[in-house]
Amino acid sequence: MRKMRMHSAQWRAATVLASVLLVGSMAACGNSDTGGDGGTKDDGKITMGFSQVGAESGWRTANTISIKESATAAGVELKFDDAQQKQENQIKAIRNYIQQKVDVIAFSPVVESGWDTVLKEAKDAGIPVILTDRSVDSADKSLYKTFLGSDFVKEGKLAGDWLVEQKKTATGPVNIVELQGNTGAAPANDRKKGFGEAIAANPNLKIIASQPGDFTRAGGKQVMEQFLKANKQIDVLFAHNDDMGLGALEAITAAGKVPGKDITIITVDAVKDGMQALADGKFNFIAECSPLLGPQLMDLAKKVHAGETVPARIETQETTFTQAQAKEALPTRKY
Ligand code: AHR
Repeated sequence: MRKMRMHSAQWRAATVLASVLLVGSMAACGNSDTGGDGGTKDDGKITMGFSQVGAESGWRTANTISIKESATAAGVELKFDDAQQKQENQIKAIRNYIQQKVDVIAFSPVVESGWDTVLKEAKDAGIPVILTDRSVDSADKSLYKTFLGSDFVKEGKLAGDWLVEQKKTATGPVNIVELQGNTGAAPANDRKKGFGEAIAANPNLKIIASQPGDFTRAGGKQVMEQFLKANKQIDVLFAHNDDMGLGALEAITAAGKVPGKDITIITVDAVKDGMQALADGKFNFIAECSPLLGPQLMDLAKKVHAGETVPARIETQETTFTQAQAKEALPTRKY
């Protein structure tokens, strides 16, 4: 009997020990799979949840292609969501990615404000966030690992500087209309700011009307029609992107004016259709904004997943184009 009782006690102790070892080894497995940052997969592949702004422009289409192609090339499993220019859709997508325990979340915020709560949820879940293309105005910079994208203020400033140079001999008022991107978006806020600061150098340069055209061709056309009806003399159009400028071309032509001659047209992006309009003499100047962010984004995702420190800000390298430069660049333009 005594011998039997001893065996039973030993068996119980062995069972407890085995359970402890099993739980411990499962926990260890979980940690090594996540790289310490929240993923749960065991196939060595990084899963990225990406929330895209929408499909509002040629720029956005090129950006989406860049991200999808780069994910495939880098062996990153991509979960992709199109928010249709709505912040609530982006917040929903990010919450879904948190629930799915993806390894990295990346997104291009449709507007600058209102992200703190959802970013905190991602941080609490141990999932690193990368901002791409557009940034947020959160004071707590620890809510995201890095921001990869353009300097939109600089783009607006380059556009304004060019105009100041063109109009340096103007003796009377130069009437400017401005087509803004969607209200609250970083490129709309920043391009407006940069352009305004640059043209302040010449008091003859005046913005007589400024409205959002939501970065779309339809928006650009519709708002330009209103501008043309309400203002007798428009000398310059500054459109925050090519697509709105292209929409405005239709309105200008329909109003019996010659784009690029009667009205000087400055835009941002330099996508193929915009570059074609510039080469054809319908646009006058473009400040470039590159959508080809995919390869850098995948590289950053791998680094943050591995726990490496990455720079807090990575600025995209860009240039500007005159009509002659557009003619030269068009044949090899990638987007
Ligand atoms: O955030 C980048 C901007 O968004 C591009 O300039 C515009 O075309 C797009 O819709």
